Amino acid sequence: MKIAVAGKGGVGKTFIAGTLACTFASKGLKTIAIDADTSPNLSLTLGMTQEEAAHILPIAENQQLIDEKTKTDYPGVFKLSYTVDDIVASQAVSTLCGVQLLVMGMVRTMGSGCACPAHNLVRTLMSHLIVERDEILIMDMEAGVEHLGRGTAKNVDILLIVTDAHQASLVTAGRIADLARPAGIPEIAYVANKVTSTEAEAMIRESAEKHGTSVLAVLPFDQEILISGIQGKPVVSENRFEAVARVQSLASGLEHNFLSS
Ligand SMILES: Nc1ncnc2c1ncn2[C@@H]1O[C@H](COP(=O)(O)OP(=O)(O)OP(=O)(O)O)[C@@H](O)[C@H]1O
Ligand SMILES: [Mg+2]
Repeated sequence: MKIAVAGKGGVGKTFIAGTLACTFASKGLKTIAIDADTSPNLSLTLGMTQEEAAHILPIAENQQLIDEKTKTDYPGVFKLSYTVDDIVASQAVSTLCGVQLLVMGMVRTMGSGCACPAHNLVRTLMSHLIVERDEILIMDMEAGVEHLGRGTAKNVDILLIVTDAHQASLVTAGRIADLARPAGIPEIAYVANKVTSTEAEAMIRESAEKHGTSVLAVLPFDQEILISGIQGKPVVSENRFEAVARVQSLASGLEHNFLSS
């Protein structure tokens, strides 16, 4: 099952992607989390310390790996055809809850057609992961769906668009939904986060409907989660939080829909 998590900045994408990943891993399912954000912080959400996180070298910045994969004997000429399967084994970092984490780096401009080796490697690796690997894959993305590209997007099983009830978040969520559909993503659903009232929930539901989709989960705003986030203390495995419990239910629903068929 391949899940992409998108939405406006700060709506809770990383919190939700991390909680989903930990939930699947704790059920014994092989789970790879991909940090596809240009300022990666999924590692912290998955329980790593700042120091451990600082040691992770994003794929796009790993010059040795890039050279090894793409360099030829001719200056300015690089290989376009190579295998990347071994990158998962060599570069993925194990996290406390059992998730394998891959930090991509530099994904923002992937859709711009840049042909430099770092982008080419990240793009090849992403499409390999999305198209060929048979694991649970959870991608914490930046806003927009450009880097999914038309060819690989249809191999993502579901795009979760996280939004709160702010107008700006809803506008971005709608834009993403409108872009994702022609890109071929088969399932698109909203996750309502930081919900403070029934009115807020209704606004998110209305927006989802307007963009031809529905709300799969509603997570309440929780002051303690906000503070934990600010302090860099992960809460992804703490189901005493209603928001975490709701993501765990969402994970069960996704598992039921996509894995049992
Ligand atoms: N349900 C919630 N209640 C309260 N705070 C929340 C909730 N969900 C997430 N947060 C907090 O909101 C902040 C932003 O969350 P997060 O980093 O997951 O968002 P993001 O969408 O990944 O942001 P960015 O676009 O910067 O990557 C964090 O401090 C997090 O702890
Ligand atoms: Mg994030």
